[in-house]
Amino acid sequence: MNIHTAPASFPTDTLPKASVRRFAWDLDLSQEELVQLLDLTATLKRSPAAYARALEGRYLSLLFEKPSLRTRLTFELAIKQLGGDAVFSSGPIAEREPLKDVARNLERWTHAIVARVFSQQTIEELARWASVPVINALSDLYHPCQALADVFTLKERFGELRGLKLAFVGDGNNVAHSLMLTAPRLGINLAVATPPGYAPNAEIAATAAGLAAACGTELTITTDPAAALAGADAVYTDVWTSMGFEREAAQRRRVFQPYQVNAQLMEMAPNAVFLHCLPAKRGEEVTDEVIESPRSLVFEQAENRLHTQKALLLMMLA
Ligand code: CP
Ligand code: NVA
Repeated sequence: MNIHTAPASFPTDTLPKASVRRFAWDLDLSQEELVQLLDLTATLKRSPAAYARALEGRYLSLLFEKPSLRTRLTFELAIKQLGGDAVFSSGPIAEREPLKDVARNLERWTHAIVARVFSQQTIEELARWASVPVINALSDLYHPCQALADVFTLKERFGELRGLKLAFVGDGNNVAHSLMLTAPRLGINLAVATPPGYAPNAEIAATAAGLAAACGTELTITTDPAAALAGADAVYTDVWTSMGFEREAAQRRRVFQPYQVNAQLMEMAPNAVFLHCLPAKRGEEVTDEVIESPRSLVFEQAENRLHTQKALLLMMLA
């Protein structure tokens, strides 16, 4: 039997479908699909049992070149809770054979590829060669699955996303980039404050500015944390040294010190919640006091990785 034509045992015709069979970066989901994904996530979170067999007989390949707790486990749990299963492989993806061969092996065994990679090029190449959906589980440039959980967490907390202000303070990295491509399309005003020299990628920033203008939201990129935090409803930070940049860690610890999210900084946004994708380095980008405070939603974000990824898998595979 061809695994790709096995009938779904669950009536899936009412589920929204992703129009592009890849989630290589944030913009592979349209604005409308993003809204649909958030709605579907809320349904899944409320009634998980209703979808327990929706992806029966479907398998995911998880290829991870870098460590992971949340992303790996939530994808494994997501597919299992939908009736499917996953296989996992760690280490460099294209060391023993070209990516185009890896892609054409995996598509014969599994219905989607979830990859965490050093280079975005690896995701693009997998997506180019695989006939099954390829999902970016973090690259040097993007972390689109994280952004889905982050905006869902904000929606749960605030009800309405349009008009919220999110302040991202720290490194202009993959997590910041995905927020820049996602938040404006949901009506969220976003301010990103980084040290000089650590601003987001200029091309991604230009794309995000275009999206913000088209969606009537504000996107600010600054080196001043106070400007970013003024009027913020949520303050987000991430590690100063992302995976792959370890040899810059000492230098980054010096440069990023004024951008630490501590109690004093949080006073600049007295009503804001605190967000972090985790893992966190307490004492570096955030203090223990802030991450453990009642304003911190970090474990809600972590939980919501599961629910948003279930919605993503349903939209891609059902
Ligand atoms: N936030 C996140 O992606 O966590 P992991 O690196 O543990 O997957
Ligand atoms: N920016 C971090 C995110 C980890 C989930 C990194 O790339 O290491």
